[in-house]
Amino acid sequence: MEPGKGVARRGVAILGSTGSIGVQALDLIARLPERFEVVALAAGRNAALLAEQVRRHRPRLAAIGDAGSIPELKAAAREARAEIVAGRDGLLAVASHPGAEVVLAAVVGAAGLTPTYHALKSGKVVALANKESLVMAGPLMRQAAGERGERLVPVDSEHSAVHQCLRGEHLAEVRRIILTASGGPFRTTPAGDLAQVTPEQALKHPVWEMGKKISIDSATLMNKGLEVIEARWLFDLPPERIDVVLHPQSLIHSMVEMVDGSVICQMGVPDMRGPIQYALSQPERFAGPVPALDLSRPQALEFHPVDRDRFPCLGLAYRSLEAGGSAPAALNAANEVAVQAFLSGRLAFPGIARVVERVLETHRPAPLRSIDDVLEADRTARATAEGLLPGGGAG
Ligand SMILES: NC(=O)c1ccc[n+]([C@@H]2O[C@H](COP(=O)([O-])OP(=O)(O)OC[C@H]3O[C@@H](n4cnc5c(N)ncnc54)[C@H](OP(=O)(O)O)[C@@H]3O)[C@@H](O)[C@H]2O)c1
Repeated sequence: MEPGKGVARRGVAILGSTGSIGVQALDLIARLPERFEVVALAAGRNAALLAEQVRRHRPRLAAIGDAGSIPELKAAAREARAEIVAGRDGLLAVASHPGAEVVLAAVVGAAGLTPTYHALKSGKVVALANKESLVMAGPLMRQAAGERGERLVPVDSEHSAVHQCLRGEHLAEVRRIILTASGGPFRTTPAGDLAQVTPEQALKHPVWEMGKKISIDSATLMNKGLEVIEARWLFDLPPERIDVVLHPQSLIHSMVEMVDGSVICQMGVPDMRGPIQYALSQPERFAGPVPALDLSRPQALEFHPVDRDRFPCLGLAYRSLEAGGSAPAALNAANEVAVQAFLSGRLAFPGIARVVERVLETHRPAPLRSIDDVLEADRTARATAEGLLPGGGAG
């Protein structure tokens, strides 16, 4: 029998289908029609692209953020015989669609929290790209993801690498995990020049082409900080057993150091369709469109320590983990506000870390008993961060 023939197709729902991860996931799924079936798609504002995706991938349900965009989707939905839902209800319906075995959570930022949590509560396997939801609500998300958090599968290439390295290993025999970081566009920029960098420069990542928010997070290294918090909850390891190393080539996606000193790493070409496919297919693996690494040509692998003075966001993320409770949610909210302010020209690049630091200093960490507690911490920290922006009133 041909590989894949006679195998039940896995139903996939995508939250954030019009974004960088969503589009790459749909490209991958279209190339593996015998393995996956798109059952539901949700987008924010890009109704034109969603309509095109509905025509091409024929989901049973399509959700759009704003009810005013429904007329733009009507013709495509009629052709595909898809139902359309708008607003928060739409996102929740996609997250819990009965035909979905796996939900790809690829909305950006805190907006992804409620639908991602809802998918876990509905018993779905969640392929998690929306790291912010795990940063905000780590303990609650883990609890909702099964006894050992097994229904939460990472899409981030670093965590996908760790997930793969840990297959068959005992956590007690792991000394630490080591997340690799490319270092972003300012890896070698002197500290004194960072105040002048523009959003255009910050958006130019040397390795990955991604959405705007994660591109800025990669430039400040807050992305790596968020990933440390993400790793803490995905792999149930304390922060002191999670390290970061700069690896500019981005060929090793992350590593696991065992107690006997052996270091296991996962390598691959930097193509997000690789970790997306793994998250959708695991525990199985099968051939897909991502090429293997070409090891026939000479190439070097470099490793450097992170300069935490030049990139203070990484240390701030560790600090929020130590503070515990709602502190990582406050860090995330402050960062989202500061990144938007930088993108709109209201804040200089080093101001992002300063705003986050000030918010963390004033935040009183509270225990997270429910998603409402998380949302409350998010709201408060956003308001504090807004007040700290130039012209925001708090100076
Ligand atoms: N891009 C990567 O290579 C990469 C790698 C690792 C992890 N991630 C993570 O994956 C997530 C997505 O990143 P991305 O780069 O794909 O972002 P992106 O290109 O900005 O896409 C974001 C997606 O979220 C949707 N969205 C935003 N706000 C929404 C809301 N309120 N309601 C419903 N949908 C909403 C957008 O819809 P519209 O465009 O229709 O408004 C879009 O589909 C992030 O958490 C990021 O950290 C990304």
